[in-house]
Amino acid sequence: ARTLCVSAPGKVILHGEHAVVHGKAAVAVAVNLRTFLKMTPRNDSKILVELPNIRTRLCWDTSELQPLLEAFPADQTESQPPNPEQVEKLKAFAGLNNTTATPQSLATLAFLYLYLSIASRCGFMPSADIVVWSELPTGAGLGSSAAYSVCLAGALLSGCGVIGYPLEEGQSESRWSKENLAVINSWAFRGEQVIHGNPSGVDNSVSTWGGALRYQSGKICSLKRVPTLRILLTNTRVPRSTKVLVAGVKDKMMKFPAIMEPVLTSVDAISQECETVLAAMAEHPSLEHYPVLEELMDINQHHLNVMGVGHSSLDKVCQLTASHGLHSKLTGAGGGGCAVTLLRPDTTPPVVEAAVRDLSDCGFECWETDIGAPG
Ligand code: MEV
Repeated sequence: ARTLCVSAPGKVILHGEHAVVHGKAAVAVAVNLRTFLKMTPRNDSKILVELPNIRTRLCWDTSELQPLLEAFPADQTESQPPNPEQVEKLKAFAGLNNTTATPQSLATLAFLYLYLSIASRCGFMPSADIVVWSELPTGAGLGSSAAYSVCLAGALLSGCGVIGYPLEEGQSESRWSKENLAVINSWAFRGEQVIHGNPSGVDNSVSTWGGALRYQSGKICSLKRVPTLRILLTNTRVPRSTKVLVAGVKDKMMKFPAIMEPVLTSVDAISQECETVLAAMAEHPSLEHYPVLEELMDINQHHLNVMGVGHSSLDKVCQLTASHGLHSKLTGAGGGGCAVTLLRPDTTPPVVEAAVRDLSDCGFECWETDIGAPG
């Protein structure tokens, strides 16, 4: 056993958040903001997890965790969703109840779930120091929980010998094989289910595979040709729960199916149109594609408001950026969290700076980045 370093990117959903939970298509891209994990084997029987971003330090002796293993059958595979009894046992063990769905408690639950599932499968509990830190804001719609789950799944599967180490001797950076990445992605999805309840799987897929992809009903289709797009990300810093927002959209769907279904179908068409435009842009880069992308963002932002996942802070981002000639929409679960603003190749630095100044004056945090980071 040796020290292992893993990293995974965050994501931006260009189109299809929420609709993707109901079987529609989403187009999502990896961003150049990453989560990093370092796992150092220990010689004793301790397992330590440090999460500096959320000021969390977990420490157990593997003998304390041993009784929990009963709830994790050795033949449980990554194709089985977490069962509620397992999650309840973990909550009771860690002293967490339903009213404490904080980032700290969710990260603890996902860690315990993945650690025990993977340890049970391979028949031993690795002792290690694990540190996970991130450039991504937590719980803001940029896939921080998915990047965390992907890093954990990769490290624990490697540490338990289920998959090989990604790093070959003498290489500074290496990737897992496609087969191993598929296994990592499946386990990361289980971590996401523990955290979010009923996620679609789009976040962990983008974080695992990187680049840009279309995601629909568990089917991942990497977009072969993706143009370089500059974007501005704005974190409104308004906290919200993906689980609660996803449940809210589901309630609306049940209450008004005839009204809501066409909205989701329209979002599906927006995702398809976006994919077509991105392919055309990659083939023939030209400014003429930008008005189409901008209009799609405006329409989708209205749809997301209809779904009830907007927020006054997100309206503010849209208004302020519009005053600089830019177009924005929420990205991820909404209700606060982050917005994405499209920048054109000819959007000048003074325009971006002025927009950032206005957004910062509202207490928002901004990053300029581009899309399509590696997984
Ligand atoms: C969250 O990043 C995206 C949602 O569509 C939820 C999901 O797909 O699991 C809101």
